[in-house]
Amino acid sequence: MSTLLYIKANPKTDAESATFKVSERFIEEYKSKNPEHTIITLDLYKEGVEPLSRADIQYLFSPNIEKSRAHHIVRYAYQFAEADKYVFAAPIWNLSIPSILKAYIDYIAIAGITFKYTEEGSIGLCCDKKAIHITARGGLYSQPPLSEIEMGDRYLRKILNFMGIQDIQTLTIEGLNIITLDHDAIIEDGIQRAIESAKRF
Ligand SMILES: Cc1cc2nc3c(=O)[nH]c(=O)nc-3n(C[C@H](O)[C@H](O)[C@H](O)COP(=O)(O)O)c2cc1C
Repeated sequence: MSTLLYIKANPKTDAESATFKVSERFIEEYKSKNPEHTIITLDLYKEGVEPLSRADIQYLFSPNIEKSRAHHIVRYAYQFAEADKYVFAAPIWNLSIPSILKAYIDYIAIAGITFKYTEEGSIGLCCDKKAIHITARGGLYSQPPLSEIEMGDRYLRKILNFMGIQDIQTLTIEGLNIITLDHDAIIEDGIQRAIESAKRF
């Protein structure tokens, strides 16, 4: 039995967000295909994830860190390491991921939990896992010239690679701020691709 961690990074509701309209359908389809799997929803805004404070950093580098699994600083990292699959639902914000998602990554990328240092350098500890990044965008970033300046999906892929996750898909819902395009059709197309992808995830 697998555990899927569904990480939501948008202050909008499911009904307002194009990202969530698609990601919710992905989860719905995944659930119907895998009723015995566990799905944990982590809504970063409801969680109130905040940037790491000075005290947080001091705790992270203290010697007893791995003993306190329930501590608020490390519990996200353990939860992440214990999951098998990840669904990231986050729109593009200023060419990157929303800052709350970056703050969350600062909580989960912890040496000894999601990666470790070796004599040859760091290695990821989250191996044999898979992820999908579902992301709505105002512009068209899948092709040049905007593909060259998109840093959200690129960053997420690199940091997941760093933690050992190599099997990563990206599902984009693009062009939603281009007024000449049919936004409902773009979202519907995203939903259909999400359903197909969820069947095999
Ligand atoms: C703070 C902020 C920054 C944004 N930056 C970008 C951007 O850099 N590129 C882009 O294409 N769209 C940008 N957008 C637009 C959204 O990504 C776009 O409208 C997307 O469809 C929103 O998805 P959502 O409905 O799931 O929130 C930005 C929106 C916000 C609120």
